[in-house]
Parts: sequence; structure tokens; C-alpha cells
Amino acid sequence: MTIKEQLIEMFSNRQAKVAVIGLGYVGLPLAVEAAKAGYQVIGIEVDSNKVNLVNQGKNYIGDVKDEELNQLVSNGKLRATLDYSEIQNVEVVAITVPTPLNKTGDPDMQFIVSALDKMEPFVHQGMLVTLESTTYPGTTNELMVPQLTRNGLKIGVDIFASFSPERVDPGNPIYHTQNTPKVVGGSTSDCCEVAISFYQTVIQNVVRVSSATAAEMVKLYENTFRAINIGLVNELAIICDVLGTDVWEIVNAAATKPFGFMPFYPGPGLGGHCIPIDPSYLAWKLRFHNYRAKFIELATEINGHMPEYVIQRIIRIFNNLQRSVKGSKILLMGMAYKADIDDVRESPALDVMILLKKLGATVDYYDPHVPSIREENHSIQSIALTSDKLNEYDLVVITTDHKKVDYQLVIDHSKLIFDTRNALQKLGYKGNNVIKL
Ligand SMILES: NC(=O)c1ccc[n+]([C@@H]2O[C@H](COP(=O)([O-])OP(=O)(O)OC[C@H]3O[C@@H](n4cnc5c(N)ncnc54)[C@H](O)[C@@H]3O)[C@@H](O)[C@H]2O)c1
Repeated sequence: MTIKEQLIEMFSNRQAKVAVIGLGYVGLPLAVEAAKAGYQVIGIEVDSNKVNLVNQGKNYIGDVKDEELNQLVSNGKLRATLDYSEIQNVEVVAITVPTPLNKTGDPDMQFIVSALDKMEPFVHQGMLVTLESTTYPGTTNELMVPQLTRNGLKIGVDIFASFSPERVDPGNPIYHTQNTPKVVGGSTSDCCEVAISFYQTVIQNVVRVSSATAAEMVKLYENTFRAINIGLVNELAIICDVLGTDVWEIVNAAATKPFGFMPFYPGPGLGGHCIPIDPSYLAWKLRFHNYRAKFIELATEINGHMPEYVIQRIIRIFNNLQRSVKGSKILLMGMAYKADIDDVRESPALDVMILLKKLGATVDYYDPHVPSIREENHSIQSIALTSDKLNEYDLVVITTDHKKVDYQLVIDHSKLIFDTRNALQKLGYKGNNVIKL
């Protein structure tokens, strides 16, 4: 039996052991799904707090069910560790570490590089290493494979490498890790076959593409598509303001077209660990080929400018009242970058808060999913939402449209509301103390 055949057999009878490196929004749900599929799973983390929580069966990711994690941990199917040497005993390694941008807006590959460096001494014959972190096209073949084969192992024969982008949409009530189709591309055709055989045992629907680079491109295309369309609708919001039309009415009416149109909605900017970042990975790679990704640059500029645009609108609101932002008291409703989740990474609400403070406003926030945030070196707590508290603010800005919020209370006790998410009209409220983006 070849090594490839042995691995495929170990997947079909679940004899293979699986390690997931990085137990965050992507890694923990994947680890849970692999354990539910019948594998023995080890999560490898650098954050000892997460290791302890997992080993106590305590969940910290919204999309993971508390009881499910608890049960898998108590049955010994899932555990976490800080120790990379465990890799010598596993047949599958899935890498799900962060891929942010650095201060100059270029890919920050330090987490992937560090994961590969730490696992290198324990890489062995008869394993599949699959990268899931979103990254620039070429990472699997140019960065990962050379390191996996440094000890003389032959790719596609002794060891197998693939890229399979994670598409998780945190907070989505229908689609989660297990039932979202998974694109898989291998470094070689045999690598792809091994990777597909593994993923088919964990994920409902697996989609094969011709190479790891193709799989990397698929993810970047999907997220670039979103970033560009959000950029377009954000610019439409500015255009509608100039022309005195209601952007929400235009988008909602356009969305009644049953073919050839997909609605995107404006807001105070882009947030999260994906849409504001991933297109820059593609644009960065293209710069090596003397090609400028023009759509990406334009969308990045428009989306990045939205917090400033929101500030301009707030200044206009105060100007119309013959008042200034300086000395005013403003409440931001929502700190998470999108509805019904607790993730504040790259959240535009943070930018709006900082910009308002620079103008001399006193700014508080309320977010039922985000009890506190860190700004520079200090912690800021979400306020408790009460009628008395709401009465204190000159302006309430709806920056996230969480379902959990008591909007009736907000409507009844706020003097003025600037709704950047159309949250109130969605509830059917059209009162005259509301100004919409
Ligand atoms: N969050 C999403 O919605 C989403 C969706 C699709 C794809 N992605 C991509 O998935 C990847 C992971 O994103 P995430 O949101 O899960 O990030 P995250 O920050 O929630 O989780 C990453 C985890 O990796 C750990 N880590 C960092 N370096 C490590 C190392 N060397 N060894 C072991 N653990 C390490 C961190 O402590 C953290 O717990 C990124 O590339 C991201 O772009 C994220």
C-alpha cells in the first residue's frame, strides 16, 4: 500500500489523528466538526487561556455549541495543548492562524511562518498538512511546501499539502463549518486526492479545484467580490446624499429584481478579519508582477473613508442645530463590526469613536455582545441601556444592528438618532428624530 492509500484508509476508518493549529473563530469550529466526524482531535494554541478553556469544556466562540464542545472534551475526542511535539503523532494538520495586515498595509505572515517553524521538527512521513488561513496566491507552494520537505520528504508521495479556504460566516444561523461547501486544491494531484478524502469525512460538500493556488484565489475572489460591492453601495450612499435620495429605498427596490442583482448594504465602513484585509493580500501579490488591482484599490479607498464620511454627516447634524461636536455627548449603538456577533476586529465603530473623541465629543458605547473594548492602554465598558442613560446623549449613532437591542427604548428616550444601518426602518419606525445614512 502506498502512503497515500494508507492515509485514505485511515480517514475512512477514522484511525487518523487530527491537529488544528490556532483555535479561533475558524479553528475551534473545525476542530469540533473533525471530532464529531469521529477523529481524535488536538488543538494546538499559543494562548494558554484558550487551551485551559477548551480542556475544561468551556466554549468561547459564538458558532460553537457549548454542550457539543463539553461532550467532545469529556469523551476524550478533543483536547488542546501548547505543545507542538504532538504533531509527531498525527496524520492531519490544519493551520487556521491569523493573517492580518502589518502597519504599512502589507500581508503579515508572522503567524503562518511561526506555525510552520514550530511544527517543522515534528513533520513526518504520512501526513496531510492543509492550510486554511486566507492568504496570497502561492503561499502553499512557495512558503509551506519547501518547509515541509526540508527534511527530504517528497511532496505528493511521503507528505501531502493542500489549501482549503475557510468560508465561515460568524453568526450565520443557517450556514456553518459543516454545511458550507469546502473548496480544496492540492500541491499535486495526489495531494488533492488525499485532502479531498479527509475533508469529505468532515464537511458535507467538497469542491475540487485544480491546484492549491486556485483554491487560494477562490477565497480572495469571493472576499474581493464582497469588498468591491460594499464599496459600490457605500459610494451610492454618498451619491444619494448628494442627490437627496434615500439609498435604502434604492437598494431595497433594486433587490426586487429576481435575476442579475444581489443587494449589498451601506454602513459606517468595513470590519472583521476578512473583507477589509483579504483583497490587500491579492493586491500585494500583484505588485510583484507590476500589476495594480484597480478595483481593489478603489473599494479599499471608499470603504476606508466611510468612518470619516459618517463624521462629516454628524458634524452636519450638529451644525444644523447650531451646535458643535466639541462638548457634545454621543452614544454609539454597537461596537461589533456586524450584527449579532462579538467580533470588534477592524470594526468601523472603533474608528468613529476615535474620530469623534478627536473632535472633542464625549463618546460612550452600548453593545450587548461586547461588554468591554481596549482602546490604546485602557479598557472601556459598554454602558447599561436605560431610559435615564439614553436621555443624557445629544446624539445616538446606530453603528451595528444587533437583534438583541431594545430599539423601542432607544427610540423613546433619544433626542436624535443617526442610523447608519437602517435598523429602525427595518423595524418599521419612521419617526422624525431619525436621520439615515
Ligand atoms: N473569522 C472569520 O470569519 C474568518 C472566515 C474565513 C476565513 N478566516 C481566516 O481564517 C484565519 C484565522 O482567522 P480567525 O478569525 O479564526 O482568527 P482568530 O484570531 O480568531 O484565531 C486564530 C488563533 O490562532 C492562534 N495562534 C496564533 N499564532 C499561533 C501559532 N503560531 N500557533 C498556534 N496558534 C496560534 C491565536 O492565538 C488565535 O487563537 C485567518 O486567515 C482569517 O482570514 C476567518
